[in-house]
Amino acid sequence: MAEVVIVENPAAAGALVAAEIGRLIARRADAVLGLATGSTPLPVYSALRSQLEGVDVSHVRGFALDEYVGIDPSHPESYRSVITREVVEPLGLTPSLVHVPDGSLDGIEQAGAEYDAKIRAAGGVDLQLLGIGTDGHIGFNEPGSSFASRTRVKTLTEQTREDNARFFDSPDDVPMHCITQGLGTILEARHLVLLAYGEGKAQAIADAVEGPLSAILPGSAIQLHPHATVVVDEAAASKLTLADYYRYTFANKPAWQGI
Ligand code: F6R
Repeated sequence: MAEVVIVENPAAAGALVAAEIGRLIARRADAVLGLATGSTPLPVYSALRSQLEGVDVSHVRGFALDEYVGIDPSHPESYRSVITREVVEPLGLTPSLVHVPDGSLDGIEQAGAEYDAKIRAAGGVDLQLLGIGTDGHIGFNEPGSSFASRTRVKTLTEQTREDNARFFDSPDDVPMHCITQGLGTILEARHLVLLAYGEGKAQAIADAVEGPLSAILPGSAIQLHPHATVVVDEAAASKLTLADYYRYTFANKPAWQGI
């Protein structure tokens, strides 16, 4: 099963995961990072600023999980803009090495297969950051997504559109469609790191980590991965049956093993 690490707050989660990414880049200067958007990965990106200070990151590569379909890439809430603003610019990554699925309507039929081919050509993702939706989605694989799915166009649930309305002027402005790495694509990354904070994510986390494997809860796909780490604060961990065991296990883990 996934390793669950319960931390005090989002900043501690950010520091823990940024340290792991730092170790990865030290081992491999052209590491391939799987990048998530939304609020959850922000503490990681902000901790990475100091973690990577003085490190040559010019060869680091990146692949975002998803993008809205039909949104102008220059829109401040397109995931292309978010990745540029939150990751590429502050960390000083090489823009041409950081990819986001192409959500433009022109060519959307092929965009998924092309994105998967690009990930494959890069040798796959070393470490994939993930958030989780309140409905259990990872990437934008909404409930019902196949565990074997590849990058493709999906329809966002009303719940996800409401959750993401905070980023837009009006709820109606949240696009209805997205292009997202599939669960099968995500599962090919060598290390999955799923983060979540707050009570609102507690049920989705309990279902993903300890519930049955089911397409109705796409996050449960992480149980199929041999190296998945779930980093949660106390509130997001509050519905985990084995929380005490996870605390005990992590407290007694040799530090050199990282996560
Ligand atoms: C974002 C993504 C989504 C989010 C999820 C949680 O690239 O793929 O799965 O991680 O919707 O969003 P936040 O972090 O805003 O709660």
